[in-house]
Amino acid sequence: MTPQISKGIVLAGGSGTRLHPLTQVTNKHLLPIFDKPMIYYPLSTLMLSGVREILIISTPEDLPRFERLLGDGNRWGMRLSYAAQPSPDGLPQAFLIGEEFIENDRVALILGDNIFYGHGLPLLLQKVVGKAKAGGTIFAHTVRDPERFGVVAFDTDGKALSIEEKPKIPKSHWAVTGLYFYGPEVCRLVRSLQPSARGELEISDLNQLYLEAGNLQVERLGRGITWLDAGTPDALATAGQFVRTIQTLQNTAVACPEEVAFRMGFIDREQLAEAIRPIASSPYGKYLATLLEAGWQA
Ligand code: TTP
Repeated sequence: MTPQISKGIVLAGGSGTRLHPLTQVTNKHLLPIFDKPMIYYPLSTLMLSGVREILIISTPEDLPRFERLLGDGNRWGMRLSYAAQPSPDGLPQAFLIGEEFIENDRVALILGDNIFYGHGLPLLLQKVVGKAKAGGTIFAHTVRDPERFGVVAFDTDGKALSIEEKPKIPKSHWAVTGLYFYGPEVCRLVRSLQPSARGELEISDLNQLYLEAGNLQVERLGRGITWLDAGTPDALATAGQFVRTIQTLQNTAVACPEEVAFRMGFIDREQLAEAIRPIASSPYGKYLATLLEAGWQA
């Protein structure tokens, strides 16, 4: 299957006010989720989709830190580039900032504080990436408090009927997650959006345009897949505990870009060994070394 989406954007700006004072001097997406920075999780999700060319968008003052952490992506067989969002004016702004990067390609957008984990996820994402047609694909997951999210209502055949942003009376428990795939028409569609009452461009309005045009696929993520957004102190702690539990019980790593790059065939054994060298003394580095010792071949 030839991937039709080769590009992705990680949106890692925002103000992180719900995490103050943690985020007063540190960007939210650099905070730890157990043993690695938050941004490793959405990056790994895009990598598992097969995306190798990624634009990281953050605030002008935080971008240099992301560049120091991630570099040009070469050590993971990736191409990373960076762009600033001067003020957090909404998620769809990513497509205006990234217009030159997107060119005429399909593109994935993931929010920097979104964590996806579970059996079958890479295959599902790769299927979406493999689709040739224009239009959008988004993902929904059940939540306890849908009134905090964009909420999708489905008909009995599982077809999406409506998306409402933070409804007082939600029509379902299906929340829109922070992972979106769109065709190159997305930049044009974003230009037709008007800022909402809170002064931001809204991703729900963008999805509504796709829905009205009959061009939106909403994939429901089942209970085998966990979705977390780590934007509040409780969610941050829960995410850390979740990752620690999985990693400790199963002796696997959640969202380790070096491992993903190796397993996806983006890098070979020598490149993995090279990537391990600067981090070799941490449990993270030691886990990666076991992949080499096991003689695992990509
Ligand atoms: P939010 O959680 O909606 O906003 P925030 O991160 O600024 O946090 P808070 O509500 O606590 O003030 O953003 C979701 C994700 O999208 C998060 O990872 C930050 C990112 N984001 C941007 O990069 N730019 C933006 O303009 C917005 C609105 C969000």
